[in-house]
Formats: sequence, structure tokens, C-alpha cells
Amino acid sequence: MTRKPGMRTRLWQCAAAWLLGLAAVGPAFAANRAADPNLARQGKAEFDHHCESCHGAGPGHPGTQALRVKYQDSKPGVLEERTDLSPALVQRAIRPGIDGMPSFSKSEISDAQMAAIVAYLTHLGKS
Ligand code: HEC
Repeated sequence: MTRKPGMRTRLWQCAAAWLLGLAAVGPAFAANRAADPNLARQGKAEFDHHCESCHGAGPGHPGTQALRVKYQDSKPGVLEERTDLSPALVQRAIRPGIDGMPSFSKSEISDAQMAAIVAYLTHLGKS
């Protein structure tokens, strides 16, 4: 195999371009994993509208009461005080719904609204 002059340079250019690509994509990935503050803010508004009546703090909130009994106070009854909620659990609660909680249809809470609520509830207490 005969090497053309300049091959090595071109390889380096290739590697440099690849590294630059990684450098550009890396932060985008990191940003996706962290809570999007706008999404979480929208989720808080959706939560206040759809969930707070049952999951708010204080007496008269059946969701809060039920979760206090379910976890025997080993976890906060108020969802917004939990730091262990997973996206899967929050989604399941909304659709198809769990135990004593009514489910929400897509016309009540769209997939986008659900994603916002999930972002809000799963990033509480995390930066
Ligand atoms: C009509 C009352 C009511 C509304 C409205 C309601 N929930 Fe619930 N939710 C409950 C009850 C009751 C439970 C407890 C079910 C059980 O015993 O497991 C619950 C449980 C949950 C759980 C499970 C927590 C766990 O650790 O088991 C999640 C997550 C949840 N709700 C999220 C939501 C979200 C998000 C909304 C708004 C979109 C919402 N809920 C609206 C009554 C409600």
C-alpha cells in the first residue's frame, strides 16, 4: 500500500472534526438530562390545575391522605415534597391511572402536558 502524502493530515482533520462534533453534542445531551426550567415551570402550573386538589398539603386532600397511609409516613404524603418519584410512576398515575386515583385522558392532559408534569415532579429537590 502506498500512502499518498497528506493522508496523515487528512486523518487528523477527520479526528479533529469528530472531536469537535462530540464537544458540540455533549452539552446538548447534558442539557436534555437536566430539568428544563421552562418545562418544569409549565409542569407546576399543570400540577396546580389538575393535581393539587387531591395532592396538596393540609387536610381535605384525598391523594395526600391516601399516600400518607400507603407509606405509613415513611415518605411525605404531599407529592411535591417527594424526591423519589420516577417518570414511569408519574406517567402511570396519569395514564392508565393507579388504584384510587382517576386516570386522565389525552383530551384532559395531552402528552406534552404530561411530559411537563413529569419533568416538574421528578426533578423536585434536584438541581
Ligand atoms: C381525585 C383525586 C386525585 C387527583 C385529581 C390526582 N390524584 Fe394522584 N393519587 C390520588 C390517590 C387517592 C392516590 C393514591 C393511590 C394509591 O393508593 O396508591 C394517588 C397517587 C398518585 C401517585 C402515586 C404515588 C406513589 O408513590 O404511589 C402519583 C405519582 C400521582 N398520584 C400523581 C398525580 C398527578 C401527576 C396528578 C395530576 C395530573 C394526580 N395525581 C391527580 C388521587 C388523585
